[in-house]
Amino acid sequence: KQHQLWGGRFGNNAGKTNECLATLNCSLPVDSRLFADDIDGSKAYAEALAKAGYLTSEECATIQTGFELVRYDWIEGLMKFLPSDEDVHTVNERRLTELIGEVGQKLHTGRSRNDQVITDMKLWMRKAIRETCDSLSQLIDTMCQQAQQNLQVLMPGYTHLQRAQPVLFSHWLLSHAFALREDCLRLCDLRVRANVLPLGSGALAGNPLQIDRVWLAERLGFAAVTANSMHAVGDRDFVVDFVYCCSMVGLHLSRLAEDLIIYATKEFDFIEIADDFSTGSSLMPQKRNPDSLELVRGMSGNLFSCLTGIMMTIKGTPSTYNKDLQFDKQYCFEAFDKLQQALMVTQGVVKTMKLKMQHMESALSADMLATDWAYYLVRKGVPFRKAHHYIGAVVAHAERMSLGINEIPLGDLQQICPHFDVDIFKVADYGGNVEQYDVIGGTATISVTEQLKLLNEFLSGL
Ligand code: ARG
Repeated sequence: KQHQLWGGRFGNNAGKTNECLATLNCSLPVDSRLFADDIDGSKAYAEALAKAGYLTSEECATIQTGFELVRYDWIEGLMKFLPSDEDVHTVNERRLTELIGEVGQKLHTGRSRNDQVITDMKLWMRKAIRETCDSLSQLIDTMCQQAQQNLQVLMPGYTHLQRAQPVLFSHWLLSHAFALREDCLRLCDLRVRANVLPLGSGALAGNPLQIDRVWLAERLGFAAVTANSMHAVGDRDFVVDFVYCCSMVGLHLSRLAEDLIIYATKEFDFIEIADDFSTGSSLMPQKRNPDSLELVRGMSGNLFSCLTGIMMTIKGTPSTYNKDLQFDKQYCFEAFDKLQQALMVTQGVVKTMKLKMQHMESALSADMLATDWAYYLVRKGVPFRKAHHYIGAVVAHAERMSLGINEIPLGDLQQICPHFDVDIFKVADYGGNVEQYDVIGGTATISVTEQLKLLNEFLSGL
């Protein structure tokens, strides 16, 4: 016998939805993964019904054990779907009723799938936020370890992808870790805002059966209850926010991947991606491609498509629940799944990559010290704007003579600016140079060590 949640109104035609509509309507391939959340939400709701006097304590107990049998079916892969099963909520209620009989038919009293489905989503999302934060913190941790182990390595820092100033390799790597830390914070904010219970909102008007929503919230671990039932059943902002948070992580991973891909080229040759995170070419035997990172970079586009997808889905819907909203899940789950994969791959790449310290350091060139030459003049009392101008002239002079700025004879320098003295040539030490940048957030070892400390504290507090 078919179990449909809404057949009565349709007389003899009950359950005979046109096949093509039934296919479009069926969300089971996507929302089955909510089965446990749906069971947890329903068990709590049954208790609330008992508290309100609509179930006896025996009936409530029967529902509780019934649901554990339903859960068993799912976990053991025994759950069979019927053509009338529209979604995970239908399946759970149908199976419950098959197992425990008529009592199962009391469960949905005062509830709608509209408040049920968002409750399920919120229960699922709490776990998804935790898992995403876990993966993020593992990646940040791996970055911190690489940064710690290679604290002495110097490399050229770039702006506009042009050599700018010498920095510590660790400073560069942690710049990406700090972006991921922001992502964790964003997810933590979302957790607070999403942890508000919609159950008890009914289809749209609320619940007339003295269901104790505050008790339900406590029972399910929510910090509060939604304040407006019409808003609650139509609100998917928390799903959009989650997909946005995932997209931001994707964006950050993509930029990191781009840096690493560039650094792994023979032209840069700063790092080597491990064999198990590289692939070869079917045609060119010598090739060693950073596919792992290209997939991470490409995947971010996939995440952004989820974000536009869900926003487009919601934007034209009138107030409260509309079936369009059923599509929120596919975007949300895809964003979560893809991001988990990308985070794992990125972590693997960062953990196993080899640094080519020599190459990084030999890519440093004297012109990258031009800024510090300007500071040299500043320390001799020259106003910065003037100093900048003098050093510009030095760089042009060096270029004309095909020399490094540190190879220009002192006499020439003094002709450009009389404040130059022999001690200018001490500014040519890259390592010593980096150590001057000891401000909070700077590239000196002491500052980068502070950054590491901050990240490690953040990770242990997560
Ligand atoms: N499967 C539906 C969804 O995911 C559940 C809510 C159905 N509500 C309704 N009024 N048809 O959105």
